[in-house]
Amino acid sequence: MKILVTGAAGFIGSHLAGRLLEEGCDVVGLDVFTAYYPAWMKTRNIARFRAHPRFRLVRGDLNDLPLGRLLRGAEAVFHLAAQAGVRSSWGRNFRTYLRHNIAATQRLLEAAKTGGGPKIVYASSSSVYGQTPDMPMTEESPVRPLSPYGVTKLAAEQLCSLYFRNYGLPTISLRFFTVYGPGQRPDMAFHKFFKAVLDGAEIPVFGDGRQTRDFTYVDDIVEACLSALLKGRAGEVYNIGGGHRERLDRLFPLIESVTGERLRIRRLEKQKGDVPDTHAAIAKAGRDLGYRPQSSLRDGLAAEWEDIRSLYPRSRRRSASERTRP
Ligand SMILES: NC(=O)c1ccc[n+]([C@@H]2O[C@H](COP(=O)([O-])OP(=O)(O)OC[C@H]3O[C@@H](n4cnc5c(N)ncnc54)[C@H](O)[C@@H]3O)[C@@H](O)[C@H]2O)c1
Repeated sequence: MKILVTGAAGFIGSHLAGRLLEEGCDVVGLDVFTAYYPAWMKTRNIARFRAHPRFRLVRGDLNDLPLGRLLRGAEAVFHLAAQAGVRSSWGRNFRTYLRHNIAATQRLLEAAKTGGGPKIVYASSSSVYGQTPDMPMTEESPVRPLSPYGVTKLAAEQLCSLYFRNYGLPTISLRFFTVYGPGQRPDMAFHKFFKAVLDGAEIPVFGDGRQTRDFTYVDDIVEACLSALLKGRAGEVYNIGGGHRERLDRLFPLIESVTGERLRIRRLEKQKGDVPDTHAAIAKAGRDLGYRPQSSLRDGLAAEWEDIRSLYPRSRRRSASERTRP
């Protein structure tokens, strides 16, 4: 099975590409290595399978690449390429979000509709809900994004849906809820927390820390992607969450226990676009995809901590004598 993964050098895309190779697929990974975070991190993400005989990296922008040719013979596309990040989507940056999230998706769908109609699994986001009174959020809850990023993710999701309704292109959208694990993007909370621990620095926390998130381990996300390809109903949208909701500040003791370090918190102003709470209703994904998140937060955080320690080997470490333990 030939499969295209867009955003293959990113956090989630690289986990997915690696897993598809393990499953015996031929994988074409597309990625332009945007400058949002350092390219060496993306190179590291794909290092373990970069030379795999069934993997081909195509380095380029979905807005420019010859997509018709790349899609030839492909049975499926996992479309993960995007400009991620809620907080940086305001102001002039919005142009970047339009280009990578909406225009790139439209171009991919256009190419796919004439290219034999591969199944397309699109990486949507919990950010499409915005601030909703529905807790947990179901796929029927109103969608009112609170950030420009959320608007672009919703627009791309709508594009997927309308190419299904107009052209029968089998698209499925998965709304991911705060994904974590090894390779997590450096702008995301756990990555920043662990990096701060390594540096002996204060942990930056936006707002009062009482915001809740449905944290989803990356292996569960990958499993959901595979199930969506095999069992997902075309034209449908599915929430993919971790199966529980946690208050950010209640996780600090767990992070202290995983790292063996006492955290020092630096409170920062609440950021525009950040929603107070997310919580995924995952019954639909359970029913249609057989989705059951397997990972515990403790194990997932421990895996991410191990990864961060090898990512920053030269980070300044405090000497053992300076350490304070919880
Ligand atoms: N990480 C999360 O918590 C989360 C939550 C919800 C949704 N998502 C979605 O999941 C997907 C993957 O997220 P991630 O955290 O792995 O992000 P990431 O930034 O690590 O990966 C995205 C990759 O896409 C590439 N890319 C961007 N625009 C491109 C283009 N025009 N052409 C080719 N490549 C391009 C980037 O270079 C990057 O490597 C994104 O669509 C994101 O919106 C992520």
